Amino acid sequence: MAHHGDYQTAIYGAGLRGILPSLPVDFATLEARAVAALPPSVRDYVQGGCGDEFTQNHNVEAFHHWGMIPRMMVDTSTRDLSVELFGMTLPTPLLMSPVGVIGICTQDQHGDLAAARASVATNVPLIASTLSNDPLETVAGALADTPGFFQLYTPKNRALAESLVHRAEAAGYKGIVVTLDTWVTGWRPRDLNTANFPQLRGQVLANYVSDPIFRAMLPRPPEEDGAAAVGLWAATFGKVLTWDDLPWLRSLTKLPLILKGICHPDDARRAIDGGADAIYCSNHGGRQANGGIAAIDMLPGVVAAAGKTPVLFDSGIRSGSDVIKALALGATAVGVGRPYVYGLALGGADGAAHVLKCLLAEADLLMAVNGMPTLADVRAAGAMRI
Ligand SMILES: Cc1cc2nc3c(=O)[nH]c(=O)nc-3n(C[C@H](O)[C@H](O)[C@H](O)COP(=O)(O)O)c2cc1C
Repeated sequence: MAHHGDYQTAIYGAGLRGILPSLPVDFATLEARAVAALPPSVRDYVQGGCGDEFTQNHNVEAFHHWGMIPRMMVDTSTRDLSVELFGMTLPTPLLMSPVGVIGICTQDQHGDLAAARASVATNVPLIASTLSNDPLETVAGALADTPGFFQLYTPKNRALAESLVHRAEAAGYKGIVVTLDTWVTGWRPRDLNTANFPQLRGQVLANYVSDPIFRAMLPRPPEEDGAAAVGLWAATFGKVLTWDDLPWLRSLTKLPLILKGICHPDDARRAIDGGADAIYCSNHGGRQANGGIAAIDMLPGVVAAAGKTPVLFDSGIRSGSDVIKALALGATAVGVGRPYVYGLALGGADGAAHVLKCLLAEADLLMAVNGMPTLADVRAAGAMRI
């Protein structure tokens, strides 16, 4: 039986033929190479975060104070990393987190399509951002039969929000992820120091300029007056959502509704009471609010509050052992953000796929060594605060 850990065997085997991996297998080297390769404005937008970046760094460091105890004399020669989510059996617990600038992270400016191809290559579902360089229908086409999700930044204009959701349904996405923490952009010094905000430069707005409702709100087509389209985008982006909006959000779709950005147990309970199908525990990788608690430290409380409702998690995942720790703390599935973006920047679809394969290989081998053949075993073992 093939295992994700076999990627390690393939790397060593290629080494015997004099072939080294074209991209590093560890995050630190990957990040160093990506930030050297990316244009400074994209580099700062992707690598940077809110304030002095305490929270985004703490997201990563906090994984070090969680640990697992290995169990011996268990047959782990066969491992199963599959998860059940929304009636689907996904072969792995990984998700590609929504990242709004992947479109500009590849030289051809079609990073969204490259991410979709990486998703197909690895069977790791892509959560496609509202902010993309290719319309959501084209991204869905590149995903083919691989399940994907659509992430909604809820516009102020309700008809536009409804149009985006209905387009995502028609395109075949398997769920709608509504991001709650970004009606306004957090204070990001790296971008402010260079006065750079990609959307205001007309980038990653393909889902808006292709939308019939958005186009109808413009005096002239965006192809003729790009500045007006950017102005309208700025005016309509970012509805302030309150709990009073949840019935409306719920009414927009029969697809699973996933609320992203929930970190407080009370918010998790309220979201589930209001009809959410899953909670997405995330602090946006520390890009939106600084000074917060590391996301992984908030996960156990959210999991306890969520009960049987699935909890997705991201923010700070840098390795396969991070993935396993998040699952041990109760996450149903785990989102990867910056790491796959760096792979994409360095090697396009193959680069992003390499990063995901490395995470899966490390996770799989950790399960093999730790005596945990299934994710149920990982969850039963749990993780201890060191
Ligand atoms: C450059 C960048 C752009 C992002 N864009 C979006 C987005 O469009 N929608 C969204 O919900 N989250 C967005 N996120 C947040 C990610 O979905 C995820 O929560 C975050 O990357 C996790 O942190 P990590 O990458 O440090 O692990 C973005 C993150 C980055 C780094």
